[in-house]
This record gives sequence, structure tokens and C-alpha cells, in this order.
Amino acid sequence: MSESSLDDLFRNNRHWAERAKSKDPHFFEKLAAQQSPEFLWIGCSDSRVPANQIIGLLPGEVFVHRNVANMVVHTDFNCLTVLQYAVEILQVKHVIVVGHYNCGGVRAAYYNEDNGMIDNWLRNIKDVQHLHREQIEELDSDGERMDLLCELNVKKQVANVCHTTIAQRAWARGQSLEVHGWIYSLADGLLRDLGCSVSKVEQITDVYRVVHRLG
Ligand code: CO
Repeated sequence: MSESSLDDLFRNNRHWAERAKSKDPHFFEKLAAQQSPEFLWIGCSDSRVPANQIIGLLPGEVFVHRNVANMVVHTDFNCLTVLQYAVEILQVKHVIVVGHYNCGGVRAAYYNEDNGMIDNWLRNIKDVQHLHREQIEELDSDGERMDLLCELNVKKQVANVCHTTIAQRAWARGQSLEVHGWIYSLADGLLRDLGCSVSKVEQITDVYRVVHRLG
């Protein structure tokens, strides 16, 4: 991979803006006026998993939150703020948690090593690992085990989205909102649906149901 200087980045940016305008002369005017994305993507910060490119969407079409290992943590005001804005103001129809195989965050959580401050963040993955340790330990190789942990982590984060009052208030209002869990393969560039979509409060374990439909 060739090295880019900062000057290259500005040059790339000018070319990109010119190309976008040549395809649609009003592209930036329309975007400046409003955004109306239908999707919120919650993904990993990994530079190899860029939201817009992977799903072929233009600026304005997907609202994005990324952090190490695509986590939805209930004390993380950053993620919750993005979620609330996306659901209540932008009224996105789909929240998609997108994990990926070979995730450095999941790998760091999987091995018993001291990584410093980040271990506090990765502790959430350790909890998933602990909860599903029997299923994980059945697999033969570390690679297979980490792949499974990547998938289980996505499913856990989907549940965490659903357990927020943000999602549950949307459902109580009758707003259409689906939460999905996908996983991306760096090896072939393809996304796979993990089949854990949730579209109503009745799909959630009752312990976590905190907002109820009125009447
Ligand atoms: Co990652």
C-alpha cells in the first residue's frame, strides 16, 4: 500500500468533490439542506471496515457510529447519543450492528493479556466469552473460537440496542424500527446476516422490557 501525505488527502478530497458534482451538480446543495438516512450503522473502528463503501451508499444515506469492536455499552453516552439522535430525530428504520472476523478488539479480549486501559472496554467482550464459554470451548482452534466470539459479540450488542429505552420507546410509539446483527469478512468483502433481527419489544427477554405500549 502506498503512503499518502496530507497534501495527497486534500488533493483526493478535491477530486472526490469534483466527481460527485459532475455526477449530480446539486449533490452538495441537497446534502447541506438535510440528511435523511434510513440506516444507523454501528460498526468497528477498524480501517478495513468502512460503512459507506461496503454497502455502496452515498453520503447522506447511512448514519454511522464506530468504536473498537462495535460495542453498545449502556454507560457510553457517545453511542447512546448517536442512537437517540438516529432513532428519534432522523427516524432511521434500521439499526445495524456490524461486526467483523479478525477483529483486533475481540482478539485482545480473547487472550488473557494485560493491554492496559482498553481492557476496561474489552471487558464487555470477556463477559460474552464467559457467558458462552462452553459453546466456544467446543471448537478446536483459536481461530474458530474467535470467529464465534465475533458473532456472539454482535448478537449481544444487538440485544443491548434493544434493551435501551431509546429502542423501546420507539416501539411503544408504534415507530417502525428493526435492529439487525451482521458480520463482515475481511477475506472476501462480504456481509452476512446473523439472523438475530428484532422488530418489536415482545422479542426481548422480559427482564429487560422497561417501556410498554400505552393503553
Ligand atoms: Co474490529
